[in-house]
Amino acid sequence: PLIRREDYTPFAWLVPTTHLDFALGLEKTRVVATLDVERNPDAEASPHLRLNGDGLEPVEVEVDGQAANSWAMDGETLIVTLPADRHTVRIVTEIDPSANTQLMGLYASNGMLCTQCEAEGFRRIAFFPDRPDVLSTYTVRMSGPKAQFPILLCNGNNTANGEGEHGTHWAEWHDPWPKPSYLFALVAGDLVANSDSFTTRSGRKVDLNIWVRDGDLPRTDHAMRSLKKSMEWDEEVFGREYDLDLFNIVAVSDFNMGAMENKGLNVFNTKYVLADEETATDGDYDGIEGVIAHEYFHNWSGNRITCRDWFQLSLKEGFTVLRDQLFSQDMQGEAVKRIEDVRVLRGVQFPEDSGPLAHPIRPDSFREISNFYTSTIYNKGAEVIRMMRTMAGPEKFRVGTDTYFDRHDGEAATCEDFVKSIEDGAGLDLQQFRLWYSQAGTPKIKAELVPDASRAVLKLTQTVPPTPGQPDKQPMPIPLKVAVHDRASGTLGEERLIVLDKAQDSFVFENVGDQPVLSINRGFSAPVSIEREISNADLVFLAARDDDPFARYEAFQDLVVGHLVAAASGDGLADDAKSAAREDITSAFAAILADDALEDTMRGELMLFPSQTYIAEQIEAADPGRIFAEREALKAHIGAALESDLVALHERASAIPFGFSQEARGSRKVKTQALVYLAAGAPEKAADMAAAQYDAADNMTDRQGSLMVLAGMTGTAARTGRLLDFYNRYKGNDLVIDKWFAIQASSLHPSVVEHVKALAEHPDFTMKNPNRVRSLYMAFAGNPHGFHDASGEGYRMIADLILELDPLNPQTAARFVPPLGRFRKLEAGRSALMREQLERIANADKLSRDTYEQVSRSLG
Ligand code: ARG
Ligand code: ZN
Repeated sequence: PLIRREDYTPFAWLVPTTHLDFALGLEKTRVVATLDVERNPDAEASPHLRLNGDGLEPVEVEVDGQAANSWAMDGETLIVTLPADRHTVRIVTEIDPSANTQLMGLYASNGMLCTQCEAEGFRRIAFFPDRPDVLSTYTVRMSGPKAQFPILLCNGNNTANGEGEHGTHWAEWHDPWPKPSYLFALVAGDLVANSDSFTTRSGRKVDLNIWVRDGDLPRTDHAMRSLKKSMEWDEEVFGREYDLDLFNIVAVSDFNMGAMENKGLNVFNTKYVLADEETATDGDYDGIEGVIAHEYFHNWSGNRITCRDWFQLSLKEGFTVLRDQLFSQDMQGEAVKRIEDVRVLRGVQFPEDSGPLAHPIRPDSFREISNFYTSTIYNKGAEVIRMMRTMAGPEKFRVGTDTYFDRHDGEAATCEDFVKSIEDGAGLDLQQFRLWYSQAGTPKIKAELVPDASRAVLKLTQTVPPTPGQPDKQPMPIPLKVAVHDRASGTLGEERLIVLDKAQDSFVFENVGDQPVLSINRGFSAPVSIEREISNADLVFLAARDDDPFARYEAFQDLVVGHLVAAASGDGLADDAKSAAREDITSAFAAILADDALEDTMRGELMLFPSQTYIAEQIEAADPGRIFAEREALKAHIGAALESDLVALHERASAIPFGFSQEARGSRKVKTQALVYLAAGAPEKAADMAAAQYDAADNMTDRQGSLMVLAGMTGTAARTGRLLDFYNRYKGNDLVIDKWFAIQASSLHPSVVEHVKALAEHPDFTMKNPNRVRSLYMAFAGNPHGFHDASGEGYRMIADLILELDPLNPQTAARFVPPLGRFRKLEAGRSALMREQLERIANADKLSRDTYEQVSRSLG
C-alpha cells in the first residue's frame, strides 16, 4: 500500500517504558517484550493497541499478568484490545537470526549476533509500535552461552552482569534516554575493544570502545581518533555535548548500509571502521572519518531530536550530512571537500532528480521507506540546509540551530519545526524557501552577463523541470555567490551574494573592466545547474585564475563538459572545431599542472575529468558509446600532448615519502591522476610506470591507483601479473578483496563484461555479503563502458542480479534498480534493451515490496 505524509495521525497509545528479555542463540532467540502502555491524550482514543510485526508469531500474549484472549492478527499486525487507560502488555516471540538474510532486525554475522532496526527492522524482533514518534525508555536483559557470546552490548549503560547455568551469562542494560524503536541495538559476540575515553567540556568522562574481531584491533586507531575529534568538534561548532558515560561502536562485516546511529551503540560496516596504510586508501580514511562523525553527530540530530514520521527523514539525515561535511571541511580543507561533495551530488543526486525516481527532500508518499534512503534525502537535504546557512551566515545559523535543539529536544519533530527554528533563530524569512522541501527536480538557471559601458547586467532565469507527480513548479529562492572579473586586466571582482527568487531577474555590477567574466555559483552556493553564455577563453581564464577554488574547478569542468557534449551529441563536431576545443582544454590542463601556488590535493581535484554520467545528463538521448569514445580520446590527447609534464609530475610526487600530511596525500592523488592520462595518451610508458608504482607501493592508495590503471589496459603482461599479486597478497582480508573485485568491475578494459561474469563464479564471490555484492555489481553498474555495452549484456547482468538477490536481501537488491531506470535518457537502441530488462523484473513471480516499488516507479 501507498503510505501518505498527509495521513499522519499520532499513535493512540504511549509506551513510557519497555522491558526486553533476550535468550540468545544463533538459531533461536526468544524475546520477551513487556510494554507499559497508556492512552495518548493527544490522539483519538482507541481500545486497540496495534503492534507491528514482520515475520513474527506471538508465542504468548499477556495483559496485566494474565494470559490474554482479546488479541488478533491483522496481517502482520498484532492487535491487543485493552479496556482501561493503562496496562502492561507482555508478548513472547521466537526468531531465527541465522535465517535472517535480509540483515534487518536481529541477524547472525560471522558467529555474532547484531541488529539493524532503522527504519522498520525492530518489528522483526518484537511486536511493537514500530514508528519513530513512539518514544520509550528501554531496559534490556540478555543471556546466552558465554563461550559463544562473551561480549553482550546494548544501548545506554551496563547496569548488571552475572553468570547463569550451563555456561551462560547475562547482562542488563538501561538507556535513560527515551527513544524510538529504530534506535534500539543489541550485539552479542566474541569481540575485542580498542578502548579510550573523552572528557566533555562540562567534565563528563565518557568511556569509548570500538569493538571488532580479534585480528582487526590494529586497524581501529584512525576510527578512534576520528571519534574523539568529532566529539570535540560538535561541542565547539554546534555546542553539542555527549549525554551518556559510555559510547560503543561495533564493526560488522555483513551490513546493508554504511553505519547506524543506535543510541550509545553505533553499529558500523567494517568498511567504515578498519584502516591501516597497507590496506586502506586515503579515500577510505576520509570515508571513515566522515561516517564516524556522521553517526556520532546523530546523537543530537537524530536521537535527542528524532523524526515524527519517515517523511521527515531528511530532518535528521540532511542536517547530519551537512554537519559531517562541515566537520570534514575543517579537518581536511574546505575547498577539496566541497568539490568532492559536489561531485557526489552531481554524479548521484542530479540523475535521481532528473529521472523517474525523483522525489522532494520531504517526500509525499512511499511504499517501502528503505527506498528513500537516497542521495536526494541525504545530499540534497544537506545542500538545502547549507543554503540557509549561506543566507544567514555561520553565526546566525548557529543561533538558528541552537533554537532548534532548545525547542525540540526530546521530541519527534518535523522538517517544518526545523525551518521555523532557523527562521526565528537566524532571523530569515523562509516562507518561499520552504518550496525546497516540497518541489523535486534540479533548478536550471540561465545566466547571461551583458556589458553596458562600465557596468554589466547579469540576467538570470530559472526553471524547475517537471518531475513525476509534479508537472508545474514555482520559482524558488536561489542564493548565488557571484563575482565579475576582468580578463583584460586580470582583476578579480568582489564576491556578492544575490538571491534569485523569481523566474527572471537582473542584477547590476558597477565598474566592471573591459572584458568582464562571470564567476557564478561560487562555492556551489546552490544545488542547481547553470547554463551560461561563456567563451572558452573566459573558461580558460577562470580555470587558471579564479580566486574561488570551486569556481576554478567548475570552469575546467565546464570546458570539458561543453566540448564532450558537443562532440558526442547530434552531428558532433567538425574536425577543426574539435581540435580547437582540445587545444583550449589542454592549455587549461597544462596551466593546472604548472601552477606552483596550487597544493597537490587541489591539483588532483582539478585534474579529475567530469564523470561520464554527468556528461550524459546534459544530453538528450545520450549515446554512452559515443561519450565514452570522445572522453577517452580527449584524455589521450591530453596524455600525449602533456606527456613530459605528466611524467615530471609523477616523478616529483613519487619522491615524497609516505605520510598523512596534506603534501603527502596530495602527492598520491596527482600521481595516480598522471597515470590515468598517460595510460590514455602514452600507454606503453604508462604501463611501465604503473607497474613500477605498484611494485614500489608502501601504501594502498598507490597500490590501488596503479592497479586500477593497469586493469584497464590491454597488451600488457603487467595487468594479469599485478592483479594476481594483489589477490595473493590480500587473500582473506575481505575489505581488500572487495577492492580487487571493484577494480576489475570498474575497469575500462574492453572485456570487462566477460571479466565480471567470471568474477561472479569466483570462490570468493558471495551473494550473502552486501559489501561483496556491491564491490562487483555496483562497481559494474557504475562503469559506463561495461554497463552500457551495446549488446545490452550489462543491463541483463544487473537484472539477473536483482532477481537472484531479491529473495535474499530485498533492500540491497532494490538499490540496483535505479541504474536501469535511466532508459528514457538513452539513445533508442540501448533504451529499448534497458527497458526490456526492467519489464522482465516487473514480470517476475514474486518481488519484494522494495524492488516492486522501484521497478514500477521506474517504468512510470
Ligand atoms: N541512519 C543511518 C545513517 O545515516 C542509515 C540507516 C539506513 N538503514 C536502512 N535500513 N535503510 O546514517
Ligand atoms: Zn545518517
